[in-house]
Amino acid sequence: MPITPSQLSRWKQQHRPIVSLTAWDYAIARLLDQAGVDLILVGDSLAMVALGHRNTLPVDLDVMIHHAAAVCRGVEQALVVCDLPFLSYQISIPEAIAAAGRVLKETPVQAVKLEGGSPAMVETIHRLTTLGIPVLGHVGLTPQSVHQLGYRQQGQTADEAERILQEAIAIAEAGAFGIVLEHIPAPLARKITEKLPIPTIGIGAGPDCDGQVLVTADLLGLSAKTPPFAQVYLNMGEQIIAAVQSFGEDVRQGHFP
Ligand code: KIV
Repeated sequence: MPITPSQLSRWKQQHRPIVSLTAWDYAIARLLDQAGVDLILVGDSLAMVALGHRNTLPVDLDVMIHHAAAVCRGVEQALVVCDLPFLSYQISIPEAIAAAGRVLKETPVQAVKLEGGSPAMVETIHRLTTLGIPVLGHVGLTPQSVHQLGYRQQGQTADEAERILQEAIAIAEAGAFGIVLEHIPAPLARKITEKLPIPTIGIGAGPDCDGQVLVTADLLGLSAKTPPFAQVYLNMGEQIIAAVQSFGEDVRQGHFP
């Protein structure tokens, strides 16, 4: 049975940590699913880690749907969530509904994620969830606002921390089934996690969230640049270079085939 959004809520109540990673294609998704990842996020970070863009802004909905469909072909168990890309949901609520609807109609993805907790975004989340579209929120550092926020930690002042807390509460009240907390101080993430009835999934937000997510390319050592809060569990980049050099050597020496 595939994991559902309500399963994540039960795990929050049971204090069972939620394991989440990003995926951008069939091969990676199949391995993450086999390894027991609970929530696979088709993050728009694929713009950077899979497509080589400088930030997440250039990907559009067609590209996200293309990658989400490939990810789903590799997944049997995990809950798959797809990011709505920049400007596919911010312009108007009807456009947000159309964008989320396309993701759910054209792929087997079970939920969408969107960034921000402004009153307009909270209203959008409310409309989507009222229509039966599960939504994962995302506050703190929101990479689609890179030209406004940069990549620095958010919520460092008391005012900023209070704003992020209120945004998270409003997103939960609007019906989101969970929320990503990105690059905020650990005490703030702990406070939000304690206050919200829905699971928090942290990235660079300390150890007290209900779950943790990383960009898989960072974890595997495949990213050109890794954020300070990420941990490299395997230096696959170096291993790939060594394997390819061995192949090249064998071909040049006449040892392969
Ligand atoms: O796009 C992405 O990979 C994300 C994660 C950083 C949570 O949104």
